[in-house]
Amino acid sequence: PAKAVAAMAKQAPQSLEALNRIIAGTAPFVPGATRAVLGEGPMAAEIAFVGEQPGDHEDLQGRPFVGPAGQLLDRALKDAGIDRGKSYLTNAVKHFKFEQRGKRRIHQKPTTGEVQHYRWWLLKELDFVKPRLVVALGGTAAFALTGKAMPITSSRGEAVFRSWRGYITLHPAYMLRLPDAAKEVAYESFVADLRRSREIAA
Ligand code: URA
Repeated sequence: PAKAVAAMAKQAPQSLEALNRIIAGTAPFVPGATRAVLGEGPMAAEIAFVGEQPGDHEDLQGRPFVGPAGQLLDRALKDAGIDRGKSYLTNAVKHFKFEQRGKRRIHQKPTTGEVQHYRWWLLKELDFVKPRLVVALGGTAAFALTGKAMPITSSRGEAVFRSWRGYITLHPAYMLRLPDAAKEVAYESFVADLRRSREIAA
């Protein structure tokens, strides 16, 4: 990654648009994705949400958080009183990585090296957006933002990500995989985290 980071730094984009052109024009680190899924939302957003990587739906539509995890996130944002349209949404890794099983494309968790490959872009992106608060959705985002392994159970809550105020919470896709009773409990705790984030960012 050191070499890749040096090469990225040389590109020295001066704006979010310039950065996005570079990301969109770069081949996926692991081949397969249809396109890079770029961040979405206004500059100086109150909250920037960082996920792991685009999923199948995101890869096809070219927008972050539009699949099942995105729908759960939408519901939780509403319940927490956060306007998605006023938030910035992006991912630690910008390309969908999957394993083909028949017609299905099964999401594959990015490796540490892959997250590091995309990390310079993510940090640069947030430097341009300048949100008031950065919320890491899940451990991969928290790792990308801190450069350290961040198990959710021990690091959940307020955090500092370099120069930004941060907050670490669950990834919505994690909740989708829980049995119903646990899902309900996790969802309520997730909404509570989002409410707290909204207060911090206000
Ligand atoms: N999961 C993520 O982490 N990001 C998306 O954009 C969609 C699902």
